[in-house]
Amino acid sequence: MHDARVMRGGHKRNCETAEQRPQLGMALTDSISRLINYYQRHGLEATLQRARVFLRRLFSSHRLVLYYYDLSKNGSIASVRNWPDHLTVARITSQEEIDQEDWQKVANFWNPELSHRNFSERFRKGATVWLIRSEGKLAGYGWTLTGRPIKPHFFPFAANDVHLFDFLIFPECRGRGINPLLVTYILDQLAAERRTRAYIEAAEWNHSQLTSLSKTGFHLLGVARKASLFGRTFVEWGRPKEPSGSESAQVSGKS
Ligand SMILES: CC(C)(COP(=O)(O)OP(=O)(O)OC[C@H]1O[C@@H](n2cnc3c(N)ncnc32)[C@H](O)[C@@H]1OP(=O)(O)O)[C@@H](O)C(=O)NCCC(=O)NCCS
Repeated sequence: MHDARVMRGGHKRNCETAEQRPQLGMALTDSISRLINYYQRHGLEATLQRARVFLRRLFSSHRLVLYYYDLSKNGSIASVRNWPDHLTVARITSQEEIDQEDWQKVANFWNPELSHRNFSERFRKGATVWLIRSEGKLAGYGWTLTGRPIKPHFFPFAANDVHLFDFLIFPECRGRGINPLLVTYILDQLAAERRTRAYIEAAEWNHSQLTSLSKTGFHLLGVARKASLFGRTFVEWGRPKEPSGSESAQVSGKS
């Protein structure tokens, strides 16, 4: 169950930074040439109008609630010691390690082709998927990546920071505290490996995930939305809708 593997953050991070440079340059050149093209065909006024619509769309994305957890100050989390017997967690770092039955469940829940592409891309970036099983059957999963966020984020990560992202509990297993247990288990493992900080975010509309995270050790960091343009990320910070008194709580799994 405690299948600890060596995390692979730093090396991959350097590789990607080097690979990213030409991509950012190409994106910028592409955007400028499209803008010039539009201006030549439609004139200045239409181009400015188009730019205004583009910017409005860019910043009208959903707000995210951001959380952090200080792994260096918080050692083992007490609740994981009361781990329910029917739950097990496997830590997976490549597609080949995924059991066929588990993969069918993941792939058929989404689109098989998209799932495959998504998983391959994440493994290539050095991400880990944590599968949680209830009575031996796959109940859900969540991802981690060390040293950088999985996509442009709200702030830079340090080499030992970990991004938790894309958690899913299959519908038949929801509402039983499995997600907070999985998140807590992961935090516990990361703390044992002396990682520094963990970050996670949830859409402000996603009450299930917000409620779920309130049962973990994560602390509220803020509410923000972001937009990426020319390889740069623009962040707008806001106020949480309702300031919560329970920013941190320990897990109590209903099993
Ligand atoms: C968000 C999610 C991971 C929570 O997992 P979970 O194991 O059900 O979490 P919890 O048991 O802590 O339940 C959290 C809340 O979900 C809601 N919930 C309960 N049963 C539910 C069900 N059958 N379906 C949907 N939501 C339910 C409840 O409000 C619950 O809060 P409660 O403790 O007051 O009952 C899960 O609902 C899910 O996979 N959703 C779709 C994917 C998603 O939104 N992922 C998160 C963003 S990456």
